[in-house]
Amino acid sequence: MCSLSNKRIIVGVTGGIAAYKSAEIVRRLQDRGADVRVVMTPGAEEFIRPLTMQALSGHPVHCGLLDEKAEAGMGHIELARWADLLLIAPATADFIATMVHGRADNLLGAIYLATSALVAVAPAMNQGMWRHPASLDNVEKLNQRGVTIIGPDSGIQACGDTGPGRMEQPDTIINQASDMFTSKSLQGKKVVITAGPTREALDPVRYISNHSSGKMGYALATAALDAGADVVLISGPVNLSIPERCQYLSVISANDMLLASLEYAKKADIFIATAAVADYRAVSIAENKIKSDSDVLTVNFEKNPDIVSTVATANESLFVVGFAAESTGVENYAKGKLKTKGLNAIIANDISRSDIGFNSDDNEVSWIDTDSSIAFSKRSKTQLSRDLIAQIAHKYNDQH
Ligand code: PMT
Repeated sequence: MCSLSNKRIIVGVTGGIAAYKSAEIVRRLQDRGADVRVVMTPGAEEFIRPLTMQALSGHPVHCGLLDEKAEAGMGHIELARWADLLLIAPATADFIATMVHGRADNLLGAIYLATSALVAVAPAMNQGMWRHPASLDNVEKLNQRGVTIIGPDSGIQACGDTGPGRMEQPDTIINQASDMFTSKSLQGKKVVITAGPTREALDPVRYISNHSSGKMGYALATAALDAGADVVLISGPVNLSIPERCQYLSVISANDMLLASLEYAKKADIFIATAAVADYRAVSIAENKIKSDSDVLTVNFEKNPDIVSTVATANESLFVVGFAAESTGVENYAKGKLKTKGLNAIIANDISRSDIGFNSDDNEVSWIDTDSSIAFSKRSKTQLSRDLIAQIAHKYNDQH
């Protein structure tokens, strides 16, 4: 069974008799580790009560575009950004038409337009409605836009007809939705990722470090695993669960991280340096706890080795991607680092903002290589990682 741990899923429920099955979908998604929010159209409320969905999901259900209370909690744009997957089940003929025409006069339609998450619909309608060229055309249009169509199933319908149009079974919907997170773009490739901060000791109890939470690096590790790669995650001290299926190395200092990186990069195809490595370390680490009786403490620091550039120099055929954490002149400084560190690409990260970068759940970055520059607008680190891994796979596969 494929895990959906850390995946954020909006279940959109529209007004069809199959809406009662959405409750089961919510529960099963949660069983697989997903964090689920429910959005219901007014039609859906005629079939199943928001309270049921609220009790199951453990979160308030979002129903109306003009619902002040819900907007104050998590507004529709925030919800659209929050999600990794928008799963609309059941999707009525009317709602599919709403999506095709880009109508945003209802909450779910607005979220569909605003989101850059994966989108799947599980159509549910009478067989005659499903067979109508208008419905088939609409579904084809959504498919062409990259929306995954799950089902419909065929059989006896609630109205007494027999034929295609019944919503797929919850298990099938969930399996196909899970598959959307996996690809084969890095199948069999070996990817090494550094993540989190490093800590440089001053004495047996004190150290200098930074605010990196490891979220960006861990999300990239999960996305690379989902793309079929064998992943080695070399991590400084963080407070996150280790992604399932990866080889994990825990390190403390920049020197530890360098040694582990050099060792594993030798056998790797791709190296991604997300870690916020401390640039300096104490020239000497005090053997005993430094006394705190003087008003001023002077510590001499020396430069740490540059891990990513050392790895790039030692492994010429390795595809190396760095991150540049900058607070001013973000793209210019990033371009400089791309060159001086000898990288194939660099991901420029503005760390002057508190809503992205260090320790936040979202990020907004620019991909820069020698012949292209691509902006990735603000989205969850999970979603961004999926997009960045797709970009890395595209560039890597182009060159090999
Ligand atoms: O961990 P999070 O809280 O999720 O935050 C994510 C992040 C902001 C840490 C991440 O997105 C990010 O920007 N990482 C790079 C942090 C950094 O150290 O940037 P830099 O511009 O100082 O370094 C440039 C590159 O050189 C980076 O790939 C870095 O890993 C590498 N480097 C830096 C110094 C050093 N001694 N060795 C290195 O390998």
